[in-house]
Amino acid sequence: MERKLAMEQAASLLLGEEQDGEWVVGGVGARRLAREHGTPVYVLDEARLRANCRAYVTALRDTYPNSQAIFASKALCCMATCRLAYDEGMWVDVVSAGEIHTALRAGVPAGALMLHGNNKTREELALAIEAGVGRIGVDNFNDLEWLDALTREAGRRVDVLLRLTPGIEPHTHKAIVTGGVDSKFGFGIPDGTAQAAVRRTLELPGVRLRGLHCHIGSQVMELAPFEQAAHSMMEIAAWMARDCGVSVEELDLGGGLGIRYLPADRPPAIRDYVTTLAGIVRDRAGAARIPLPRLMVEPGRSIVGDAGATLYRIGAIKPIAGIRTYVSVDGGMYENPRPALYQARYEAALAERLREPRRAPVTIAGRCCESGDVLIWETALPEPRPGDLLVIFSTGAYTYSMAGNYNRYPRPPVVFVQDGKARVVVGRETVDDLLSKDVPPA
Ligand code: LLP
Repeated sequence: MERKLAMEQAASLLLGEEQDGEWVVGGVGARRLAREHGTPVYVLDEARLRANCRAYVTALRDTYPNSQAIFASKALCCMATCRLAYDEGMWVDVVSAGEIHTALRAGVPAGALMLHGNNKTREELALAIEAGVGRIGVDNFNDLEWLDALTREAGRRVDVLLRLTPGIEPHTHKAIVTGGVDSKFGFGIPDGTAQAAVRRTLELPGVRLRGLHCHIGSQVMELAPFEQAAHSMMEIAAWMARDCGVSVEELDLGGGLGIRYLPADRPPAIRDYVTTLAGIVRDRAGAARIPLPRLMVEPGRSIVGDAGATLYRIGAIKPIAGIRTYVSVDGGMYENPRPALYQARYEAALAERLREPRRAPVTIAGRCCESGDVLIWETALPEPRPGDLLVIFSTGAYTYSMAGNYNRYPRPPVVFVQDGKARVVVGRETVDDLLSKDVPPA
């Protein structure tokens, strides 16, 4: 009974498994990861990554006749993730010259790239045309005018999807709502800008209007806002057929599906999300008597998020009587800015002491020179000791890709694990890397 109670209070693992009290992921133990790769280290379970890609690809294939899943690489952009997603049948969404080149060098064909961005530079648009990027997501009238000029100069045509803003407010952090009326992204549907953009695009000979795109927000934990967005987009598709005489060949409903950060989180299943969208698009196309568009979705977080974890080493521990205990790790906001930016919450465990019951809550702090550099404000752990390994779960998305070098901390490596093997896919940054662009004083 006592043992059962202790087990109930032991760590709940969102990734990997427990072996003799140690956290093991992809067959590789925490101690070995720390010994061979150092800490902090971003660890990605390759099997989970592939399973997440497949969940989208197969759900689309099973429920809809013509579809394409696209990996939003911004969630974790490196050559390995772009290539893995492509090998699993996905295209890759890119937002900058940096992301374009990463995907291309990884061997993703340009035709399988979709370029987004609310302020693409002329150079980025020129690069996309030159490289033959498959789709350009047109966000605004400036994109349209530059594409018009650039396609004339290059004597080429480009395939575009217009990014529309349906005016939907999903319940998520305000910084990651992207499809509301008050948004820097896309052409608004509520105020008629979307319709004006469709008409303008149809006037441009080099800009081929393939379809429509929307993205309403990220870490969305319910299906209703996605359903509303799908309805709203299909209304525009029907209007285009009726009033402009053009059909929407492709409909990209964006990404945004939430993942589990805390054990109690219950995001919709990928299959339910896909099936729901497919049903709406099919029904609305039938009702409006328009051809079925190719259905696209563009997930980022739900591909890489729960496949990742970060392993840290605990250093200083500072109890403040009656207030809290700060447990500092060797990472922080420079390698995971999400708690500071979005009050994001995470689950943690002592990676070598998983069987020990949890005691009083502690605060996991980073090592940047700011009081706000806290990774987890409250998490119950067995009493931590300096030198312990700590794992934070569900850190695959928007950590490495948003990391910086505050306090001149080099960024951690990204390591894939599978079948008992660990392979580095992005090496640890060094202080020399950081200094390489400094111009030494005369
Ligand atoms: N497509 C477009 C056009 C997007 O803007 C995004 C994310 C995605 C797809 C992928 O959405 P996802 O499936 O990952 O939710 N840094 C924030 C999230 C920002 C999301 C921005 N756009 C965070 O850490 O929560």
